[in-house]
Amino acid sequence: PVGENPPVRRVSDWDAARLRDLATEHGTPLYVQDLDRVRENCERLLAAFPDADVRYAVKAHTGRAVLEAVRDAGLDAECASAGEVDRALAAGFDGSRLHYTAVNPPARDLDYVAEVAEANPDLTVTAGAVDTLDRLAERGYDGRVCVRVNPGVGAGHHEKVTTGGAAKFGVPHDRAAAVAREAAERFDVVGIHAHAGSGIDPDQLDSHRELVARMGELARDLIDPSDRDADPIDLEYVDVGGGFGVPYEEAAPPLDLSAVAEATREAVAPLPAGVDLAVEPGRYVVADAGVLLTRVNTVKPTPDETVVGVDAGMTDLLRPAMYDAYHPIRNLGGGRDRDGGEGGDGTAAPAPAEREATPVTVAGPICETGDALCRNRALADPVRGDLLAVGVAGAYGYEMASQYNSRPRPAEVALDDGTATTARRRETLGDLTVVEREAATDRDGPA
Ligand code: LLP
Repeated sequence: PVGENPPVRRVSDWDAARLRDLATEHGTPLYVQDLDRVRENCERLLAAFPDADVRYAVKAHTGRAVLEAVRDAGLDAECASAGEVDRALAAGFDGSRLHYTAVNPPARDLDYVAEVAEANPDLTVTAGAVDTLDRLAERGYDGRVCVRVNPGVGAGHHEKVTTGGAAKFGVPHDRAAAVAREAAERFDVVGIHAHAGSGIDPDQLDSHRELVARMGELARDLIDPSDRDADPIDLEYVDVGGGFGVPYEEAAPPLDLSAVAEATREAVAPLPAGVDLAVEPGRYVVADAGVLLTRVNTVKPTPDETVVGVDAGMTDLLRPAMYDAYHPIRNLGGGRDRDGGEGGDGTAAPAPAEREATPVTVAGPICETGDALCRNRALADPVRGDLLAVGVAGAYGYEMASQYNSRPRPAEVALDDGTATTARRRETLGDLTVVEREAATDRDGPA
């Protein structure tokens, strides 16, 4: 039971003192993921889509504690790879709640999933190409299949994540019925699937509606074919993908989830009795449940701008560099006055609320110009030692982290009912070379 369940949690809503304590205890950069907020987001989705199958797109945040929270909340798991299937199984999702969406699946992934399916015959594989179906059959797989369709219409916060309409994903809409009917001769075809893209804005609702309507029409034709020679397919569900956007700008209004749910139900109708609607949000579940904490180590005034150097960069949070994505940043303070000298023995700087807002670029430690968390943004005048909270970082944050520039990946703390536990330890310099040292041992024998 969720008491007050606001549709969005802003970076300003986090308890600053708590975040400062966590940064002191665990060091920075540090991801903090609040499981209570993850649960609230699940509750809101289930309330908005009471009759639908709600599947969590695991790729948005794969942490064990998050997966367990989502499992307990009652969502299924939508997995994009063997690795995600493996994580979902380890987190206790049983086969009937596993959906593997295969996009040009590597042989190793198909081998793994075909093997998992022997013990978990209730799992479903979503395939978006006839070759994928053939490759499943070659592995003796004859279980549950969902056919992914390219709906010919897409949406998303950036062209790089607008999947609907991109030829890479799904079988072309006008071929979908034929592919599904052919697949039904070899597999148990239980669903059809399409995904518009990620980060769908409220003003892109028309594209979403169009996609859903096309899927509804296709479902009706498969269940009750207009071509009298075609065998009907007993579909269980129509999966219209994920992509529900969350506000990143502090002032942006939250997505009206009930309006999206309403539009979806209307556009897909009428679905025959027994056929469910399915949705698979990732971002919506975890985005505003996470912040990235980073420490200011350098403040450099230049004639053009003031550059605030921090210890988190594009290796920790790739989204700004990759998509020019906006993340809200809040100065939590704690630093020393600029004229306080080296070593942090200066006087404590005033609380951020008492400082003047200054336009700054917040830049990370990576040797690329694109490595900035924001540009020309007004922040409460940062000083060395301040802690910054980068908001709405719970989705595609840690997941897209890399070791580029030989930077160990950050640590992550999970908050559960207020209690903090290390969910992922900080990587060490030793972690950076472990695979090459192991390769050397394989090659040359133990040192
Ligand atoms: N279903 C499928 C088949 C997907 O490909 C995706 C996301 C989702 C569901 C979940 O979409 P969501 O509800 O999270 O928007 N790295 C990018 C996002 C890539 C999303 C890829 N697919 C970013 O940071 O914005």
